[in-house]
This record gives sequence, structure tokens and C-alpha cells, in this order.
Amino acid sequence: MQTALQIPVTKTAQSHLSSIDFNHLEFGKYVADHMFKAEWINKQWASPVIVPFAPIPLSPVALALHYGQTVFEGMKAYRTPEGKISIFRLEKHHDRFNRSLDRMAMPAVPFDLFKEGLLTLIKTDSNWVPEKEGCSLYIRPFVFASEARLGVKVADEYYFMIVTSPVGPYYAQPLKVKVEMNYVRSAEGGTGFAKCGGNYGGSFYPTAKAKEEGFDQVLWTDAKGHQFIEESGTMNVFFVIEGTLVTPPLSTSILDGVTRDSILQIAKDLGIPAEVKPVSIEHLKTLLQEGKLQEAFGAGTAAVVAPIRHISIEDHLYELPEITENALSLKFKKILHEIRTGMVADKHGWNTWV
Ligand code: COI
Repeated sequence: MQTALQIPVTKTAQSHLSSIDFNHLEFGKYVADHMFKAEWINKQWASPVIVPFAPIPLSPVALALHYGQTVFEGMKAYRTPEGKISIFRLEKHHDRFNRSLDRMAMPAVPFDLFKEGLLTLIKTDSNWVPEKEGCSLYIRPFVFASEARLGVKVADEYYFMIVTSPVGPYYAQPLKVKVEMNYVRSAEGGTGFAKCGGNYGGSFYPTAKAKEEGFDQVLWTDAKGHQFIEESGTMNVFFVIEGTLVTPPLSTSILDGVTRDSILQIAKDLGIPAEVKPVSIEHLKTLLQEGKLQEAFGAGTAAVVAPIRHISIEDHLYELPEITENALSLKFKKILHEIRTGMVADKHGWNTWV
């Protein structure tokens, strides 16, 4: 692959932009007009193109469908008040993408291909980046095994694709979560840190059961003994304990969240005390019983910052204090918004301008 990459663009004859209700954007409901596609053949990425969004031909014995070699990223593009477009933390997402691909024995995507594919796609569909505050263009890069073969093997052929979707807030209200003491999302040494499809598929059943019980999400615990908090459904998790921000340390079973990393950096920049340390269920229970857990919130690309209001541990439902305008969760949310939309200095170089 050459470095000065030129990606050919075939534009759609019929944009469906005008049919989208930008005032009611449900997460993942709409896809933009175009998509990016490249193929891994003969041990290299080839034929990168932007084409109108459409189904792709796939063999029923494509290896991804049987053995689960699928990896994705979740990123966002934002529109500034002046109408410019920024993509948040492109390098960090690319780095995580390749770490996930490596864990799943899939080929790495070179940075140039990732960046040019993204930029060309977002430029082509720039009208799809919402203007409204709290809305953005969700970007979904993904790689999956396309080789047609039923035998159990590491695939030799893959598709690398990018699609985008205009989105609004992921959660409308503060969350009610259940500490999960039976099922696990990932064990140490497993694929929990990788953004592979199976991690999500495997979590659907316990999450559906929690939803039947009236919860929005689960708080996953460690696979060894269900003693420590790992992360929440689609997010990392933070607690505020006596003015200190606390989040569990990364491990092979926890996703290295880009929003998590950004919040820890912002806390450092602002001098907000923060600790990365294990949070045991017993400690959490004591804090909740004594009313010392000031805040809990999830953090992720899709969810951004999602305050938690109720936590259930072993069938006991605890209520956290009301979320006021001074809440740290809201402060992080505001600062992230201001950085992404160029309203405050981007001192860590997190924005890529389209
Ligand atoms: C994200 O936050 O980007 C995610 O990937 C979580 C979920 C929407 C799958």
C-alpha cells in the first residue's frame, strides 16, 4: 500500500439524507449514504474504495459467521459551532483496533489506510454530521473474516469496512444497574480487552435477563470470584468516593476505553484527585450503606458519560444521591464536549480536523 493514498469515491445517485429526522436520532437506527471497503487478499490490504452503502456479497461459509473473527471500533465525529468537523482521538482508536485484531489473529490495518479511509468517508458524507448539541456522527470501522471455508482455521481473507451513523444521546436518563454475580463477560487471559463481536454477543443473555428485572445494564464482576467490579455493559465505570475519582485498573478482561483514558487525563489536568485501583463489591456495598458513594457513572464512546442512580447488589437496591449540576460526571461530559467542538484548547492533540 502506497503512503499517499488516493481512495476512489463512487457517489450515490440517491441520497437519503432528507428522510432522516435529526431531532430524534436513535442510536444506530440510520446509516449514512456511503461506506468504505478494502479487502485483505494475498497478505495485503487492497482495493480501498468509498461506495454507496449497500449489502455486500458474502459466502454462507464466510469464516466470520462460524468462528467469530470480527473486530470493530466505535468512534465519533463532531460538528463545531462554526461548522467544522473533528474526529476524536483517531490515533488511540487505531491503536486499540490493531490490538484487538492482533488478539483475534487478524491482520493489522496500517495507520494511513485507517486515517485516509475515515477522512475520505467523512468528507463524502460531511452533511451527515449532526449540528445539534449532544449529537454526533458515530463511526464504525470493522474487520471480519470473509474467506469462504468451513474448516476451522485462521482466515486468509478479510474485509475492512467503515460505516457511519448520525446519533443522539445513548441513554436518556440516569441508569439503574445490577452487579452481576453469576455470569461473566470475560476472564483474565480472555478477549475482554479486545473489541471483538463475541464479547458483545456473550453479554446479551445476562443483559436481557437484567433488563427483564427492570435494570438498564449490568456491572460486570471478575470471573475468578465475583469480588471486584470490572466494567459496565457498553462502558467503563467510574466512582466518586469522598471527592476522589476511582476506576478499576485495565486488565486482559477490561476494555481500554478511549473515554475512560480521556477522563483520567482531564482529571489530571484539572487537579481532580483520581485513583486507578480495584473496587471490591464489599467496599462498594459499605460505601452505599454508609451513603459515602457520591457518584457512579459509565464512560464510553457511544454512551459518552452516563450517570448511574441505582445499583443493585445481591438483590438489595441502593440509591445514589441526586445528580446535581456540580456532579463530576457532568463536568467531564461538558469538558469533553468543549474539547471536541473546539470551544476550549485541545492541549493533548485529540482532535483530527476533517
Ligand atoms: C462504543 O461505545 O463505541 C461501543 O462500541 C459500545 C456499543 C455501542 C457497542
